Amino acid sequence: MKIGLKKCRRNNLEQVMEIEHKSFQQPYEREIFESFLDYPLFVVALYEDRVIGYAIATGNGLIVSIAVRPEYRRKGIGKKLLDNLLSSIDPKKITLTLRVSNKGAYEFYKKMGFTSSGIIHNYYEDSEDAILMVIYG
Ligand SMILES: CC(C)(COP(=O)(O)OP(=O)(O)OC[C@H]1O[C@@H](n2cnc3c(N)ncnc32)[C@H](O)[C@@H]1OP(=O)(O)O)[C@@H](O)C(=O)NCCC(=O)NCCS
Repeated sequence: MKIGLKKCRRNNLEQVMEIEHKSFQQPYEREIFESFLDYPLFVVALYEDRVIGYAIATGNGLIVSIAVRPEYRRKGIGKKLLDNLLSSIDPKKITLTLRVSNKGAYEFYKKMGFTSSGIIHNYYEDSEDAILMVIYG
């Protein structure tokens, strides 16, 4: 499978939103993604011109979100996206949060070298706790 990684453009947003809705119970609004369009660290994975995954990080070392189309998971695309962000971020400490119920993503981040550094109670709007994870560059 030949996967290309590119900076996300406005004309990719429709497919990014589709992936977002298939991936999260409480998806981010389109406006959130629009606000990241100017960030260099908003990347999409393309397969035959179709967006099959995306990832966003901020320059100060926060992984905002990452998702892969369900039918393309467990093929190394999440790793490819995350490796691309990790190699582009300057800060030595990179963090992220995820729902305590998101076991698959927890295993994914652990595999990528992140470790848990704590629980943030009532972090999400529906009051679910978050796991804070960190990796040192
Ligand atoms: C988390 C996510 C981005 C991973 O993407 P992916 O392309 O499937 O991940 P990869 O194929 O690169 O996985 C790399 C390794 O991570 C681990 N891993 C990935 N998903 C896993 C899962 N569901 N359960 C256990 N381990 C997992 C495995 O060790 C895997 O290697 P292997 O397939 O050779 O065993 C994807 O499952 C997804 O989009 N989930 C929904 C959105 C989400 O929860 N995002 C993260 C929260 S912000």
